[in-house]
Amino acid sequence: MRQGPQDVLGNHGTNTIFTVWNFKEGAPIKEAFQRICALVINLNHSAYVRFPDDNASCIMGIGYNAWHLLDLPKPLPKELEEFEPIVGSRYTAVSTKGDLHFHLKGSNSSICYDMAADIAKVLSPAADCAEEVHGFRYWDGRSILGFVDGTENPESNLREYFGLIGDEDEVYKGGSYLFVQKYIHDLAAFKALPVEEQEKVFGRYKDSDVEMTDDIKPQNSHSALANVGDDFKIIRDNLPFGNMSTNEMGTYFIAYASTFNTVKLMLNNMFIGNPPGNYDRLLDFSTAKTGSLFFVPTMDMLDDFSSGDEETISTENHPEAVDTVLPKNDGSLGIGSLK
Ligand code: HEM
Repeated sequence: MRQGPQDVLGNHGTNTIFTVWNFKEGAPIKEAFQRICALVINLNHSAYVRFPDDNASCIMGIGYNAWHLLDLPKPLPKELEEFEPIVGSRYTAVSTKGDLHFHLKGSNSSICYDMAADIAKVLSPAADCAEEVHGFRYWDGRSILGFVDGTENPESNLREYFGLIGDEDEVYKGGSYLFVQKYIHDLAAFKALPVEEQEKVFGRYKDSDVEMTDDIKPQNSHSALANVGDDFKIIRDNLPFGNMSTNEMGTYFIAYASTFNTVKLMLNNMFIGNPPGNYDRLLDFSTAKTGSLFFVPTMDMLDDFSSGDEETISTENHPEAVDTVLPKNDGSLGIGSLK
């Protein structure tokens, strides 16, 4: 059986389904939760054995409200909270409800669909699916706005450093904070800009994906404001989506981080501005429709949750949550070694 983190350090995947589920009042949520934890473990094992080259995985995150409803152990992961909206002078990073989040990825959309269907079967009696977004890899990893998205992500062992909770929270070490936002773009307005202006929005050149030098990069560009320093990074797994019938083209922003504070810092810079008022010009073309924070437990914690044994979560009982640091760049799912 695999241990250690869920696949938060793996790559984007070519196809993805993102779903958010909210528990129904008075429903048998504990039973459904136990079953879903067991299912997530099962789906990961199965994907790994059946399609070793597919990089398929299923990552589940748990929201603050759900943690309380399910009466999961206290103290909570130190930074798990209800996301507070970030209100800028012009734009707001809204907060929306999310009890459970699923990030289903693979190179083949069939496996994503099957995983989503299996999850729905278990959760439907106890929860409603509030959000479902199908993300896809667009050409050479571009957002639907035409710029490569993900270039400055941390690589190799830095992924683990910036992506997983460390010694600062012993009990939840190896877990991760997951923050998601669904953005809708005003594609027509963005495309109406000459390419040189589009490049100023990102602070990068469109074709080459090369970053502008500091002397010419606008201070309100996305890369000027989202870059909060080399000591503060996150793992971004954004993918675009598009729906012609509803005319909704967007980016599903999804980040895993060892600390939610780094994400907050970036959001403050983008929405409030740095200095305040100098907000991210990308927001003139992108509206955040959702915003939720989750905690992603390790596989070992999922195992405890599945057996209703969560009271026992501690570093003593789960040395592997502390000690198991998994190979990340070996093409594996990165979800652990053999028990
Ligand atoms: C509208 C949704 C968004 C889109 C389309 C988008 C797209 C991009 C693109 C194209 C880049 C440049 C290439 C690269 O990935 O390094 C970038 C960089 C980055 N983005 Fe975003 N992004 C979005 C939202 C966000 C949000 C909400 C955050 C943080 C909370 C964020 C954090 C970052 C960071 C940290 C970088 C790297 C900056 C650097 O070090 O140069 N992005 N993004």
